[in-house]
Amino acid sequence: MKSTFYVTTPIYYVNDVPHIGHAYTTIAADVLARYHRMKGQKVFFLTGTDEHGEKVQKTAARQGLAPRELADRVVTRFQGLTPALHISNDDFIRTTEPRHYASVQDLFRKSLGNGDIYLGEYEGWYCTPCESYWTDLQIVDGKCPDCGRPVEKRKEPSFFFRLSKYQEPLLDYYEKNPAFIRPESRRNEVVAFVEGGLNDLSVSRTSLAWGIPIPGHPGHVIYVWYDALTNYVTGVGHPDGGENFETFWPADIHMVGKDILRFHAVYWPAFLMSAGVAPPLGVFAHGWWTVEGRKMSKSLGNVVDPYQMVETYGADAFRYFLLREVPFGLDGDFSKKAMVHRINSDLANDFGNLLNRTLGMLGKYFGGTVPAPSLAGEEDLALIALSREVLSAVDAAMENVEFHKALSAVWDLVKAANRYVEAQSPWTLAKSPADRERLGTVLYNILEAARICVLLAAPVVPTAAQKMWEALGCEGEVAKALVSSAGAWGGLRSGVTLPKSAVAFPRIEE
Ligand code: MSP
Repeated sequence: MKSTFYVTTPIYYVNDVPHIGHAYTTIAADVLARYHRMKGQKVFFLTGTDEHGEKVQKTAARQGLAPRELADRVVTRFQGLTPALHISNDDFIRTTEPRHYASVQDLFRKSLGNGDIYLGEYEGWYCTPCESYWTDLQIVDGKCPDCGRPVEKRKEPSFFFRLSKYQEPLLDYYEKNPAFIRPESRRNEVVAFVEGGLNDLSVSRTSLAWGIPIPGHPGHVIYVWYDALTNYVTGVGHPDGGENFETFWPADIHMVGKDILRFHAVYWPAFLMSAGVAPPLGVFAHGWWTVEGRKMSKSLGNVVDPYQMVETYGADAFRYFLLREVPFGLDGDFSKKAMVHRINSDLANDFGNLLNRTLGMLGKYFGGTVPAPSLAGEEDLALIALSREVLSAVDAAMENVEFHKALSAVWDLVKAANRYVEAQSPWTLAKSPADRERLGTVLYNILEAARICVLLAAPVVPTAAQKMWEALGCEGEVAKALVSSAGAWGGLRSGVTLPKSAVAFPRIEE
């Protein structure tokens, strides 16, 4: 196992406030970061905001603000996601910070120096009122796709990146690193795209003011995607290098939505190769959410606000739902009904109750003090064996970035523990003094199974897991425990006195 792990989210445009899509990528990255910390790896987790470019400039203008003012206002909404959603990022980068200007200009200068960036002329369909270029594919009946007014062919001087030169090196990189682009289906799409041939890419604009200037070439600003992608190296100390860069670059995984995969899997590694910096090790593209069966949009008024979700359902429940409901990588539908169902059935009934009712029995039969288990019977051994299988299933799923599978494996153990309760029937054992030792063993085993579930579910439901961890008499932070310790049955301490109940997941009234 590598001793370090570097995971990123896309950096979000500040022309809009956060919605479920932003929350989704950030939560997924957070769960990976937390899981890898619990594997004992040294983790760096970066998120941030993309503050330059036309979109931001235009939105600011519409609101009568300078772009920087707009960014300063909106960035707080993205930074606020960290506490609200229990995100454990190590840094938050804004592309308007001086460290990022230095980083982008350095990378750009290197490719300019070796001839991979050259001055040419950009030609496209221009909409004067919108101040935007469009491609042949974007215009609609010769009109601007945004405002519907006629567009005209226009040229401007522009720097180009020699992307065409990187077709072979990219294909070679994909071949040698089969896990670079995931999931597999997306990888095939990207490979086919690159095999189809690559055009050089315009990487500067003279028609836009809100961006990073190119030193020595007044009037040009760097194209927003070149600027934005570079955040991933800036965040670990590029161009100065230093300990973080040495330790964490190349990044292990860039978590992105499927719409921005091409930028990450084609352009970004090519920019880096050209500048002599190692490309990232992985990019994972997740799917998109619709809301109650419809595309999410402002005009439909169905945009899901993550802050509101947290207020209504709690951060842990929201996190759990997003990662459990839909296989990671596929599209999914968000509905309140499905969410409430998941919360009540998986979290409150299956998981929460397992602990809560066992604590109740422990209180009733043993005054809350955890008994020492005695010799294990067949059913006990089956539960122990299952806990080990679940640990390896969770690990395999997490390594493959299959959150739904990891959670479903944890719930196999939750459900098995619930079945064990029914089968062992502690309330019957409690009736006969001769069964007292067996009763103690049974309660111990249930609580130990619950402890292992808590450990394995902690990256997804960190706050509830901590609460349950403490209710089980475990010391310290569950986030600092090692997942591998789930493989050693018997970690629950005997002799400690536990509370008579602990409600980690309240039921939601339908
Ligand atoms: N600024 C660029 C990224 C630059 S990264 C170097 C950008 N920003 S964004 O704010 O528009 O969106 C970022 C993320 O939100 C993307 O990963 C995108 O896939 C995700 N989503 C936006 N809407 C979404 C859904 N409806 N569902 C799931 N994710 C969605 O792109």
